[in-house]
Amino acid sequence: SFPTLHDCDPGSDDAITLLTLLGRPDVNLLGVSTTHGNAPLSATTHNARALLKLAGRENVPVYAGALNPLVREPVYAPQIHGVSGLGGVPLPSPNVPVRSEHATLTLIRQLCAQPGEITLLATGPLTNLALAERLRPGVLKEAKQIIIMGGSLENGAPRLGNTTPRAEFNAYADPHAFDVVLKAGAKLALIGLNLTRQVQVTRARAQQLAAVGTAAAQTCAALLDDYLDRIGKLGQTVGALHDPCTAALMLSQELFEWEEARVDILTDSGKRLGETVQVDGEPNVQLVTGADEAGIYALVAEALGRLP
Ligand code: BDR
Ligand code: CA
Repeated sequence: SFPTLHDCDPGSDDAITLLTLLGRPDVNLLGVSTTHGNAPLSATTHNARALLKLAGRENVPVYAGALNPLVREPVYAPQIHGVSGLGGVPLPSPNVPVRSEHATLTLIRQLCAQPGEITLLATGPLTNLALAERLRPGVLKEAKQIIIMGGSLENGAPRLGNTTPRAEFNAYADPHAFDVVLKAGAKLALIGLNLTRQVQVTRARAQQLAAVGTAAAQTCAALLDDYLDRIGKLGQTVGALHDPCTAALMLSQELFEWEEARVDILTDSGKRLGETVQVDGEPNVQLVTGADEAGIYALVAEALGRLP
């Protein structure tokens, strides 16, 4: 089984990731930690709790984390995820309160309690992870693997960024935290836009999930439709299934290709803030470079089919 922590900022694609994890009998979800990101922390935390309610799994603890990035001012993504983080998609009202422990302290406590065992999925800005590393240097090395959705690398990509011309949202939203995590010496897998653009979001994919029939699957389909509506207004017809690729990589490595790489992030203020760059030197990440789009959707659909 997979002992897992999910650090997230739901976020439509974070939501699909969390529900996919909840639908897998082989995932032991030890907690959900939340961060500022797509929406303010209060909204992302509310959304995480509502998703657990939808899945009938309010026993999974939710820990609220960083209100703000380490250094820069917060940036949100209402144009992609709506002001609430989950567009206009209705969800049940959560009942169980947020745990009193801060997300950063949870990460430290749980990673130290089971060294080398836990996979940490990070699908938002990396503030909570960086704070953990600052408080307890070396703690991120205690994870079995940290799978990050963030950044974007060349790999022949015609387009790099989604927030600035060359910066991805999670990297841009807290570049200083991203830098701390890249330098932590931990076992990192990096899933950037260069990868997630290979896993397209289309109306047909939304219909594929809706046809699964469970409330969870229909909610995910509605989230994809809402996302397509929003990016449509920005002139895009095809989206990318970013965050669920982290769960899919943990669960089915055979769906992916990767290579060892050295990745840095630019943290000087200015136009290039938050850009990730591949450089020469000691590898610090497994840079995920290829994905089986149909296989990833099949994995997500199968998991959503097991939920209410
Ligand atoms: C990332 O940014 C967020 O908007 C998504 O949830 C994803 O984590 C993609 O750049
Ligand atoms: Ca996210």
